[in-house]
Amino acid sequence: MPTVDNPTQRSLSELGVTSPEEVRSLFEQVRARFDAEANGNRHAVDWSMTRQAWLSRKSGVLTQITENWLKPSPVELKRAVGESLNNFKEHVAVVLADALAAVEAGAEAAVSAKERVDLSLPGVIGPTGSRHLIRQVLQEIEDIFFSIGFSVVEGPEVETPYYNFEALNIPEHHAVRDDMDTFYLDLPNGAPGPLLLRTHTSPVQIHVMEKRQPPVRVIVPGKVYRRDNPDATHSFMFHQIEGLAVDSGITFCDFTGTIDYFVKQFFGEAVKTRFRPSYFPFTEPSIEFDASCIFCGGSGAAKTGGICGKCKGAGWIELFGAGMVDPAVYGFVNYDPKKVSGFAFGIGIDRLAMLKYGIDDIQVFFQNDVRFLKQFP
Ligand code: FA5
Repeated sequence: MPTVDNPTQRSLSELGVTSPEEVRSLFEQVRARFDAEANGNRHAVDWSMTRQAWLSRKSGVLTQITENWLKPSPVELKRAVGESLNNFKEHVAVVLADALAAVEAGAEAAVSAKERVDLSLPGVIGPTGSRHLIRQVLQEIEDIFFSIGFSVVEGPEVETPYYNFEALNIPEHHAVRDDMDTFYLDLPNGAPGPLLLRTHTSPVQIHVMEKRQPPVRVIVPGKVYRRDNPDATHSFMFHQIEGLAVDSGITFCDFTGTIDYFVKQFFGEAVKTRFRPSYFPFTEPSIEFDASCIFCGGSGAAKTGGICGKCKGAGWIELFGAGMVDPAVYGFVNYDPKKVSGFAFGIGIDRLAMLKYGIDDIQVFFQNDVRFLKQFP
């Protein structure tokens, strides 16, 4: 049988094929050519070119065989050509499907090799922040009061004068309002007002007692605002934590015992407390709590000689204001002053933090200088 470069473009008679054996041998040659081509191609582009060359309807080799060998074949060869062609078609389909699967698996392997995470590489450690010292101190205070049955409530920072002053027994034109001068909001014409930024957390006492019946034991952390000029101990925005306990039969002893417990937990067992008379319109009696100076141990003398610079030789440091709830306040919340009694206190968190951590300027809390913040991880 003559061999030609591209036998599928010629008819069987042109190729001199006259017997079924010669037909089969001719198909074997074509199959060998196909196998060589298909096995050599392992890339997606080559695969689709091979498929095009062999299966294309218009000019693919299988179409050529159908047109040039099968259709014009003499009757005695038709069966052999038909059978061989069907077998070959099946073979081509199987080989191309396998080749495609191999191409796809290769691509997938390449992608996953690229995306593989090397767990042995050293990790990138990002800088971690920490809680601001004010937040840390607040949590310390909260934990102490949680341990003796208080719970946390929060209240609005924007208040009406009624809650900030009147319901706390501070009527209009009362002189104490001067100490708590504040920021009033500019409201649109016709809006019900006035509204102000609260000057202390005490208004939340009223909100709580309006909603709950005794027993009440709450602490109220939050931001407060005053028109104070900034200096080492004053800020126009600072933090307070209010405390309120109201029940039947709460005594002054319960009150001082609670404060003493808190101060010892916060500053240490060795610290002593004392109280002095003070004045707040919403407590009666009102007192100011002091702690023995944590820097000189209450002696008033500096370790290096001379007087202690922190307590100025007094041996005591002023902590915060407090008192027994004034019965007049119960009148604003429909509590019966004959049946209930209680105490309240208002701690300046910023100043307490300054005291405990030896910080001498309140402004550092608000400057966000990382060198300062990093000292309290
Ligand atoms: C009050 O605000 C009362 N509401 C406290 C109170 C509550 C008394 C319940 C009785 C019963 P005073 O104005 O003293 O009190 O403020 C309380 C604390 O806030 C002060 O002891 C101080 O630590 C802190 N403080 C006051 N003004 C400033 C300021 N401008 N900057 C930083 N801290 C301040």
